[in-house]
Amino acid sequence: MEHYDVLVIGGGAAGLMCAVTAGRRGKRVLVVEHANKVGKKILMSGGGRCNFTNTGTSPENFLSANRHFCKSALARYTPWHFIEMVERHGIAWHEKELGQLFCDVSSKLIVKMLLDECSDAGVRIETSCGVDRVVHGEAGATGSKMFHLHTARGAFAAPALVVASGGLSIPSMGASGFGYELARQFGHALLPTRAGLVPLTLSGKHQERLADLSGVALPVTASCNGQDFSNYMLVTHRGISGPSILQISSYWQPGDTLRLDLLPGRDALDALLQLQAERPAAELRTLLGELLPKRFAQRLCEVWLPQLQPNRPIRQFNLPQLREVAAVLADWPLVASGTEGYRTAEVTLGGVDTDGVSSSTMQSRHVPGLYFVGEVLDVTGWLGGYNFQWAWASGHAAGSAA
Ligand code: FDA
Repeated sequence: MEHYDVLVIGGGAAGLMCAVTAGRRGKRVLVVEHANKVGKKILMSGGGRCNFTNTGTSPENFLSANRHFCKSALARYTPWHFIEMVERHGIAWHEKELGQLFCDVSSKLIVKMLLDECSDAGVRIETSCGVDRVVHGEAGATGSKMFHLHTARGAFAAPALVVASGGLSIPSMGASGFGYELARQFGHALLPTRAGLVPLTLSGKHQERLADLSGVALPVTASCNGQDFSNYMLVTHRGISGPSILQISSYWQPGDTLRLDLLPGRDALDALLQLQAERPAAELRTLLGELLPKRFAQRLCEVWLPQLQPNRPIRQFNLPQLREVAAVLADWPLVASGTEGYRTAEVTLGGVDTDGVSSSTMQSRHVPGLYFVGEVLDVTGWLGGYNFQWAWASGHAAGSAA
């Protein structure tokens, strides 16, 4: 049995940050990763350039049954702390939009940075090392009870165990439900998990109406359950995707109808009245084809507006009829049948109930020495670098305490 101060299960964003932080405090740290290399999700993130943080990060950008839980850790490890590390390692970055920071060159540099930090802090990392079981056993030299980790590479013991095994999204990248099993083993409650930041699927007539428009993208404001996001929507073969849809998917529940404003930031009736005044002889169908992608506008006319005969000149439309058109443009209902699931989801919603965890240290309230960090917890960020910021901040909080 080899002894350490801190054992970390999972060499992803949160686990590596936790290991670096604890290692820098002089702790002997071992990271156990069952995949053949660490940081696989970092490598594939942001289209290979890792959207590593968001300068606008605030607690409002996160979903959790306890919306206050993330505050303390986010306040103590901010995007600027991570940017300082990135700059110290000479990694060039740029802001894409809305505070989203990406590497100029490659997300590989972020993984290399974390590995260099680990090596500097004396952290040992074991990859291809699956954990068979965890036992919370007899007291060590300090009197505190020890966690015993039985793995493919032997047994390890430490008074502190950090569960950083992530969520269920992208199983082919090493995602597992192991963290949830451990939480249950130690008496923690779990909140139901589901895929988040994920494309939505359509079925039946809803899918038939849009499927051949696959590849068409347009700006929309997507709303559901009191939340809305303005950005692009992309029509896919099986449904809809794009940033606005990925964002709203985290708020969507089966059975909910999405409402889409197809002219975000504009009053649809005002726009139509203006067109009527300026180009009275133009057909409504033609004008809609200028406001929206042409093929999308055509389909809207065929399926949602045929009763108004949209091939008429717009001057023939009275106010109630223009109101009807405006209502479709401003509040277009779309019934999704499901999501593409964990195969493509960026994150897992739900997870370890934060009620059982200290918000300042991420330590279990039930089992001293046990910590949960990152996505395994019921804290999920919006699209745009917020999830990595949560991984860094929660990992840092646990690494400062364990
Ligand atoms: P993470 O999943 O990173 O790490 C968990 C680690 O534990 C993995 O290495 C896994 O193999 C390991 N593990 C699991 N079970 C184990 C076991 N039993 N034993 C040992 N090890 C085990 N976020 C963002 O902010 N910006 C972005 O650009 C993106 N882009 C993005 C793209 C794609 C395709 C995905 C799927 C996700 C994103 N994300 C993102 C989300 C982000 O990747 C995610 O929220 C963080 O990686 C979560 O960090 P964790 O360390 O908690 O889990």
